[in-house]
Amino acid sequence: MPYKVLILVCGIIGYTGNKKASKVVLKGLMTLEYRGYDSAGIVTLDPKIRIQKNVGKINQIDFDMEKLPGNVGIGHTRWATHGGVTKENCHPHISNNGKIAVVHNGIIENYQELRTFLEAKGFVFNTQTDTEVIPNLIEMYMKENDFLDAVKKSIKMLEGSYALAIVCEGLEKVIAVRKDSPLVVGVGDEEFFVASDVPAFIEHTKKVIYLHENDLVIINKKLKIFNLKEDREVERPVHNIDWDMEQAKKGNFEHFMLKEIAEQTESIKKSLRNNTKEIERVSWMINDARKVYLIGCGSSYHACLSASYKFSSLAKKHLDVVLASEFSNYRDLIEQDSLVIAVSQSGETADILEAVKSAKEKGAKVVSIVNVTGSSLTRESDELLMMNSGPEISVLSTKTYTSQLVVLTLLAYATAGRYDEGKAKIKDLINYVYYITSANARDYIRKLSEKIKDSEHIYLIGRGLQYPTALEAALKIKEVSYIHAEGFAGGELKHGAIAMIEKGTPCIVFTSDLTEKEMVGNASELKARGAYIIGIGPRNNDLFDFFIKVMQADEANSICQIIPIQILAYQLALLRGCDPDRPRNLAKSVTVK
Ligand code: F6R
Repeated sequence: MPYKVLILVCGIIGYTGNKKASKVVLKGLMTLEYRGYDSAGIVTLDPKIRIQKNVGKINQIDFDMEKLPGNVGIGHTRWATHGGVTKENCHPHISNNGKIAVVHNGIIENYQELRTFLEAKGFVFNTQTDTEVIPNLIEMYMKENDFLDAVKKSIKMLEGSYALAIVCEGLEKVIAVRKDSPLVVGVGDEEFFVASDVPAFIEHTKKVIYLHENDLVIINKKLKIFNLKEDREVERPVHNIDWDMEQAKKGNFEHFMLKEIAEQTESIKKSLRNNTKEIERVSWMINDARKVYLIGCGSSYHACLSASYKFSSLAKKHLDVVLASEFSNYRDLIEQDSLVIAVSQSGETADILEAVKSAKEKGAKVVSIVNVTGSSLTRESDELLMMNSGPEISVLSTKTYTSQLVVLTLLAYATAGRYDEGKAKIKDLINYVYYITSANARDYIRKLSEKIKDSEHIYLIGRGLQYPTALEAALKIKEVSYIHAEGFAGGELKHGAIAMIEKGTPCIVFTSDLTEKEMVGNASELKARGAYIIGIGPRNNDLFDFFIKVMQADEANSICQIIPIQILAYQLALLRGCDPDRPRNLAKSVTVK
């Protein structure tokens, strides 16, 4: 009985042009590795199908490029949660007759029925994946149809999410199609690319087409796009990307995570430059709506929670903060005069897309705060606020988290009719952000990392705006260093978790001018139980065993207080022998529920 291999996210690429396809595909896969890194594979046509695939990180797989000739190719980098990290399960997957190859990002929900259906027709399955049904369906339909019609008919049979790139032996083209998984087209000079994300081909072209849901594209010497739902050929606009390969490369940094932490002076400035008019329009929408929901997942959810404190203190507005994956529980409360503000770096997170779709069905308006241009969420929104952080390659959100905070803080100030003040306040942070991300500051934080690197648990506490910061900081430490870390509201520790404190347990205490007195009280409760206290805030205190000074920035505190912890998390990962850019079990965008 085959079992389901749950593929949360993968990277795919396809190429047609005059260059050696295997080289283009391999380089593209390297830039997509953040989407998955347990195995990879390439198929080229010469015009016969040539395939190489294996388990491991891309740079560990010994692709023999001599055995991958031709100018047409597809490739895949995979990330699976359980089972089946085997060579057989690596993509591309090939049809029984060996003539059709497919790479797939997403999940085919009805693959077991399809497999039984195909087995009854004599097809044999060699892998445990859901994807293998696709090349075999195409093979079956090609008995009576041409390649394009066979692909179209096969797609009709699929339930679930997919971005696919498909080749057929003897035909110099790639057919690609998307539903609920990202796919973009690169338009070059006599060459075309399809990929899960722009960095895969930015080295070759900056002209990009963002495919819509149910778009199918054929690339060979020309480009043709059909929409399968509308059942007709369509035209999509070509956009010019305003960042280059350098920004998607590590430069002098050892890891993307550190590079992205260090570039926050720039990303915050870019987010600030953003959309004055749009922010004003959205602030009117907030003021007009009867109920406003702020939704996100993971770090984006923490940014929402942080924003809710700002809307409350500045604009005297209560915004309901809901985890996107829990939003369906509130569906009955959504009305036509509700407003949903969806926050997502990737704009492809399945939970958030589903929440937004259900809110729209009830007639609510949707505003999205997104980083990735052209992503699915951008098309689901009545208003769009771009974060403008530039590409974030590391799996962990760092610069995009602070960009989300920038946009949301501006929005809270604008809703209070104090937009200029908010902008000035964030501008004042820039020098501080420059200082706290500098090599000197990093060296200072390293002393702390050395001290606590072998800890089993780290607890983090904050009140008010520092509470969501404590949650986000705990998430950062956990996901990259695998130390158990938990954030609490300062007042909550004594309601249970203080039982966990032992001699030497590191406790990070976030303070601010507003909360200092109570936080020092909480710190002394912890100290009395033997905790090792790390203070983060504007002033040192005798109780603190280690202190990181962070400027007092009122509503913008959350932006500067998280940065030292991003650095700490990075250093803890290195000291514990973990790869910060490839945290185990995690992937950059989670495109299935
Ligand atoms: C944490 C992290 C995740 C994401 C979450 C939502 O470092 O990156 O928790 O924040 O998966 O992703 P987006 O913002 O793309 O919807």
